[in-house]
Amino acid sequence: MNLGVLVSGRGSNLQAIIDAIEAGKLNDSISMVISDKEGVRAVDRCLKHGIPYRVIKRKDFRSKEEFEKALVEALKEAEVDLVVLAGFMRILSATFLGHFPMKVINIHPSLIPAFQGMHAQRQALDYGVKITGCTVHFVTEELDNGPVIAQACVPVFPEDTEESLSERILHHEHRILPQVIRWISEGRVRVEGRRVVVEGARYGTLPFNPELEDF
Ligand code: GRF
Repeated sequence: MNLGVLVSGRGSNLQAIIDAIEAGKLNDSISMVISDKEGVRAVDRCLKHGIPYRVIKRKDFRSKEEFEKALVEALKEAEVDLVVLAGFMRILSATFLGHFPMKVINIHPSLIPAFQGMHAQRQALDYGVKITGCTVHFVTEELDNGPVIAQACVPVFPEDTEESLSERILHHEHRILPQVIRWISEGRVRVEGRRVVVEGARYGTLPFNPELEDF
């Protein structure tokens, strides 16, 4: 598949995809990275690895619709098959999603439907849950709430800070995101209403998932 990756900042999930490709664990290539911010680390990673990228900023467009049309155009030009939101801090509307039906996935740092939206790790700490994690899901118009493809769980310890918890979750983000891309690339993922079935995979969860050991 040709992957299009949308980012807004650090780009560590982008890096996890790059690493999986370079290690031969993914047979896909990144044909376009779009950042909505200039000078972010995600862009440095593109430069370092020779990956095509563009910076497309919301403020350069009169409306959200025009901004999203520009994103679509760049992704279509790069013949993108799957769009990966990897720390992209904007909500996409039907203008965008209509061009890529069930072809947009997102990584979110909680076990959705818990703690959607911003600062999911802080929300988990504040709520006092003992287990949290991360989710890769298809993107629909509802924020952080499309059909779940894979989840990984981690413990929350009494001494955790937002930073320590985020780091523990991030480790698993970097494993389940490439894993899901591989499942989709292998044509093993189908959506039945809200449920996602991955052919030949019984587990959608870490750390209890032997199928994820590769990543
Ligand atoms: C990750 O925690 C991701 O789950 C969330 O935003 C963060 C992005 O991190 N959506 P990075 O830019 O991939 O390092």
